[in-house]
Amino acid sequence: MDRIASLIERQPKGSALLQEFYSDPEIFRRDIDRIHLRHWLCVGHESRIPKKGDWFRFDLAEESIILVRGRDDEVRALVNVCRHRGSRVCYEESGNARMLVCPYHAWTYDLDGRLRSARRMGADFDASPHALPQIHLRILEGLIFVCFAENPPGLEDTKRMLRASLGRYGWSNARVAHRQTYTVDANWKLATENYQECYHCTPAHPEFSRWHATEKPDEEVAELRAAAAERARAMGIEIPYVADWPYGAPGQEMADSSYDATYPGSVTGSEDGQPVAPLMGDFSDYDGGFCYVDVGPSSFFLAYPDHGMVYLFIPRTAQRTDMEIVWLVRETAREGVDYERAKLTWLWDVTSVADKLIIDQNQQGVNSRYYRPGPYGPMESQTRSFSEWYLKELSAAPTS
Ligand code: FES
Ligand SMILES: [Fe+2]
Repeated sequence: MDRIASLIERQPKGSALLQEFYSDPEIFRRDIDRIHLRHWLCVGHESRIPKKGDWFRFDLAEESIILVRGRDDEVRALVNVCRHRGSRVCYEESGNARMLVCPYHAWTYDLDGRLRSARRMGADFDASPHALPQIHLRILEGLIFVCFAENPPGLEDTKRMLRASLGRYGWSNARVAHRQTYTVDANWKLATENYQECYHCTPAHPEFSRWHATEKPDEEVAELRAAAAERARAMGIEIPYVADWPYGAPGQEMADSSYDATYPGSVTGSEDGQPVAPLMGDFSDYDGGFCYVDVGPSSFFLAYPDHGMVYLFIPRTAQRTDMEIVWLVRETAREGVDYERAKLTWLWDVTSVADKLIIDQNQQGVNSRYYRPGPYGPMESQTRSFSEWYLKELSAAPTS
């Protein structure tokens, strides 16, 4: 049995993971191979690259891709590795280009990845076999998803679920209003585990807990939630309830969604619970609720009637993870007229700053020789099923 398999054997049931799963570089590499490179990952909203030639870079562990809108208006995911001697082609984070020129020796690629010219390579040089490789890409409700696997999981169920949830909230006609990265000095699983439980909300997030019923155990807010769902149904909003890992049929990408209520006196996620941007989708009113959607291992979404939140957990090293957060508003909403950026971003900024602190401190405690995995509680059931799913994926057979 290999070392990782024997650790999986030793893992106590129903408890946080053993220290090695949060710290060991070999396990980190296996996480990337067996989880991130096999699943669909959201990399952002397509409104980030509205014009032909617009591009941005998305990095994950050692991999880097260029998301670029071609002259034919198609968005492609090109591998950011030059076909000459392997340099990164795009050094910067984003830009607009007529062609992608490798800075090293100036090999020049078309926006669809084809090599157009390679200087001084000789008259008989054939450029055609040297295109930048592409990985799978799909756009669902305006969200760009990519998958590095040769045979990615099916997206049919995810597509249906996103249509019924984020689609209702008008995400395909949304626009990025703000993006911010919060880097945590912690393993990606401590960050995603944290996102998936609200046991910590009352002590760590008084600002969020003021308005969101998620902070209480299900049984205490069942009535409030049912009333909000009823109001929403009357307005034509019906969010499918799926909420346990690994969410979904075999062969299909995981996707879950659920609906929750804001407390009376509030209608959205903001400092005072009052609207911060124009209503999205075709909503004509607030229903007193909002919707959570998760896709794959590291893409999380939160839709309020007036704005949307994209939460991406991007692993960098065994103990460093970027939480990239994107705020969406209605496409036509104008900054300074229809919304104030500071007001729009207030709640999830304070919440993410607080999360960074608790996740960093969590990792530090986990690194101690005195750390022993403790039991997950009833309010951590989703985190628990995530950890169980994770261990199964880790022990699954490797693919090419
Ligand atoms: S490595 Fe890109 S042109 Fe040489
Ligand atoms: Fe949190």
